[in-house]
Amino acid sequence: MHQLAPNLQRLGTETAFEVLARAAELERQGKSIINLGIGQPDFKTPAHIVEAAVKALRDGHHGYTPAQGILPLREAVTKDLARRHGVEVDPGNVVIMPGGKPTMFFAILMFGQPGAEIMYPDPGFPIYRSMIQFTGAKPVPIALTEANAFAFTADQVLAQITPRTSLIVLNSPNNPCGGAVPAEEVKRLIAGLERHPQVAILSDEIYSQMLYGQRQHESFLRHPAICDRLIVLDGWSKTYAMTGWRLGFSVWPKALVEHAVRLAVNCHSCVNAPTQYAGIAALEGPQGAVDTMMRAFDERRRVIVGLLNQLPGFRCVDPGGAFYAFPNVTGTGMSARELQNKMLETAGVATVAGTSFGIHGEGYIRFSYANSVANIREAIKRLAALLRD
Ligand SMILES: Cc1ncc(COP(=O)(O)O)c(C=O)c1O
Repeated sequence: MHQLAPNLQRLGTETAFEVLARAAELERQGKSIINLGIGQPDFKTPAHIVEAAVKALRDGHHGYTPAQGILPLREAVTKDLARRHGVEVDPGNVVIMPGGKPTMFFAILMFGQPGAEIMYPDPGFPIYRSMIQFTGAKPVPIALTEANAFAFTADQVLAQITPRTSLIVLNSPNNPCGGAVPAEEVKRLIAGLERHPQVAILSDEIYSQMLYGQRQHESFLRHPAICDRLIVLDGWSKTYAMTGWRLGFSVWPKALVEHAVRLAVNCHSCVNAPTQYAGIAALEGPQGAVDTMMRAFDERRRVIVGLLNQLPGFRCVDPGGAFYAFPNVTGTGMSARELQNKMLETAGVATVAGTSFGIHGEGYIRFSYANSVANIREAIKRLAALLRD
């Protein structure tokens, strides 16, 4: 009936949202649900950030802004990048986006076409593969393995480059596995990429401030050798508990920034004005709330990993970053989807099957520990009972 474009058929989705909808439906029916499926901090946006948005509205910031984002926010971003990564970025290379997602959408649109190959982490954020398929490019998975604590290796990435590789998408710390790539491995990869100057890199660093133990984030921005073909995705969603505000930023090489801004003009015009002022307050205001949130996540991480390892049929490596645990559940004898459904329908514990994150996710379940320690303990108690029965 409709003459729909065929590439729409190839567009995937994020099944985490389906789990959320089903969990909400069960809750409406009166069932007690503990949500360990959701990929967003359970903390409130810090008050001074909310106030900055309210003030911006009161001050009359109601209109369009430049598509690239207001200059004071782009300057605040560059100061933040200097503070965190010790790098100097020109505000002219920064584009403010409505969240982290549009950066991957635009970058993959720019480099994806039939005949091209785009590498992406698998298990990984499902939108990478979805968008690569949408463009007609060939998705080439970088398999993240439990044996390597779900971190990619330089050799693994370099070995898959072909003359058709147009873009490599990387993500550390990683969703859904919590894997964090050591700085040494990033450096080895950069050295290898110097032999492939035609390949662009999209480094998704949205969890860069969520690392545990003594781990340090090694931003790709610290490596001038590849900066002329590097796109970095980052944003406020996770660090400042601002997922619903829709605010992110990206750094583009000089040759690409104009294309990114043009796509923004065609797509969304600009990010809503008060949110951009909130973003300045987040970066320039006190960072205490970020530290408090990370201390809470660290405690929950230790609790959940310890408890998951006690469940029959489960085995869980220590996640290095983000707020996800990704246990191997093959010992339960159930497929990931089967176990996900059983845990939700019978025990009232919402999680997401590893298969929602790619072809290498079978046998794993993502547990988001964006929930209280008390709820995590209760959830695992319910699962222990479920697995005993
Ligand atoms: C790896 C990764 N990149 C990007 C995003 C998108 O973030 P945003 O909500 O800011 O669009 C997410 C969200 O879950 C993510 O996990």
